[in-house]
Amino acid sequence: MNRKIELAESQTPRYTSYPTAPHFNADVGPQTHAAWLDAVPADEPVSLYFHVPFCRTLCHYCGCHTKAVHKQEPVDAYARRIEGELALVAAHLGRTRGVSHIHWGGGTPTIIGTEGLQRIIEQIHQRLAPTESCEHAIELDPRYVSGALARELADCGINRASLGVQDFNPRVQAAIGRIQPYDLVVAVVERLRRAGIERLNFDLMYGLPAQTMADLVATIERTIALNPSRIALFGYAHVPWFKKNQQLIDEALLPGTQARLEQVEVAAETLEAAGYVPVGLDHFALPGDPLAVAAAEGTLRRNFQGYTTDSAETLIGLGASSISQFRQGYTQNDAATALWSRAIDSSEFATRRGYALTQEDRVRRRIIEQLMCTLIADPSAIARAHGVDPSILRPSLERLTPLIDDGYVEFDGNVVRIPEAERHMMRLVAVAFDTFHKQEPQRHARSV
Ligand SMILES: C[S@@+](CC[C@H](N)C(=O)[O-])C[C@H]1O[C@@H](n2cnc3c(N)ncnc32)[C@H](O)[C@@H]1O
Repeated sequence: MNRKIELAESQTPRYTSYPTAPHFNADVGPQTHAAWLDAVPADEPVSLYFHVPFCRTLCHYCGCHTKAVHKQEPVDAYARRIEGELALVAAHLGRTRGVSHIHWGGGTPTIIGTEGLQRIIEQIHQRLAPTESCEHAIELDPRYVSGALARELADCGINRASLGVQDFNPRVQAAIGRIQPYDLVVAVVERLRRAGIERLNFDLMYGLPAQTMADLVATIERTIALNPSRIALFGYAHVPWFKKNQQLIDEALLPGTQARLEQVEVAAETLEAAGYVPVGLDHFALPGDPLAVAAAEGTLRRNFQGYTTDSAETLIGLGASSISQFRQGYTQNDAATALWSRAIDSSEFATRRGYALTQEDRVRRRIIEQLMCTLIADPSAIARAHGVDPSILRPSLERLTPLIDDGYVEFDGNVVRIPEAERHMMRLVAVAFDTFHKQEPQRHARSV
């Protein structure tokens, strides 16, 4: 196999931030988080991310920060503390600044119940005032979406839903411990649309155990028939030493690197033949969807939720493990729910680590974001726009040489451009601009 493909397969981050979270450090704590909140300009809208790390059962494949709970009490207590954390955040931000995006992720955020969600959302309205056009999104497990829940979510102002689908084949669903028949997903889509939640995203996966090319194509075709305006297609990341639930996956059933690459290519062809356009890495959208429009116009952004049309400079993460993004850098809450709870109960932020950006980091962050969003970047122009001498980028540009020789990227002396046919190799190009990334072999996930 081509050595570079092997490298992409093994070691490259997906750059939802720069530097990536493993490079955060403990120098950044609650005081820094508070100071950075204080410094957000008073008239500037912010975005909010709420992490809910609970599910009714754990799926074998899941790589997310969540755990199974059988009782409601810890979930209710968590929701109350989210209100407490929101009050702390609002005290630093001040009132009526506007919120442009709200995202509920997990886990299964609806496990909080609509009463709890309603209470938190009321607090957001009272304390921070969402804008008129605020996008309010939630991740849903289709197995738990009744008609009543869909209506209640719409009543709460939620206007976008992301459905965790993965694959429709019952054999694959058995292998990943997540049984949800196609008809169930069809019914959920109808319920959401009837309730007025029409902006839909489907999460699909390739590289799953027992998943053949035919399964993947059939899943994509059945998805297309339901006409969601966005589709995410993630490569299954197998990290059983880190995620114990993945030890339930039979490794002998996992497709190899070559099979995964073929799956990505055929999936993209199938989606594009149906009129979807590729957006960054792993994402597809109908041409009129704001994500596709932003990609075409060069305004697409990348953050911890993936790709977004959100232009807010500040994204505030609430809940255990949540990451916030500021002009000055990143902060991350304690991932241990008990420690996060203890801090919030003492009316303190639960920030445990983070990263303060240097001006050089900002240059590299912007170059990487542009490559990951639009496949094109002018590194020297970005450096100059940040008041940084472009010559610091020379070693990065030199790292591109073997990739240029192999046709994965083009460089005309100014502009770095990834050809459309090499889109899925974009991380290999981005990594050349990452000074934190070490090339030594390491334990890695399968994640083309
Ligand atoms: C944060 S999860 C939460 C979704 C929701 N709780 C549900 O049950 O459908 C969102 C998505 O991450 C993706 N994901 C989860 N585990 C993954 C893994 N090991 N590798 C790649 N993607 C994964 C799946 O597509 C999943 O739908």
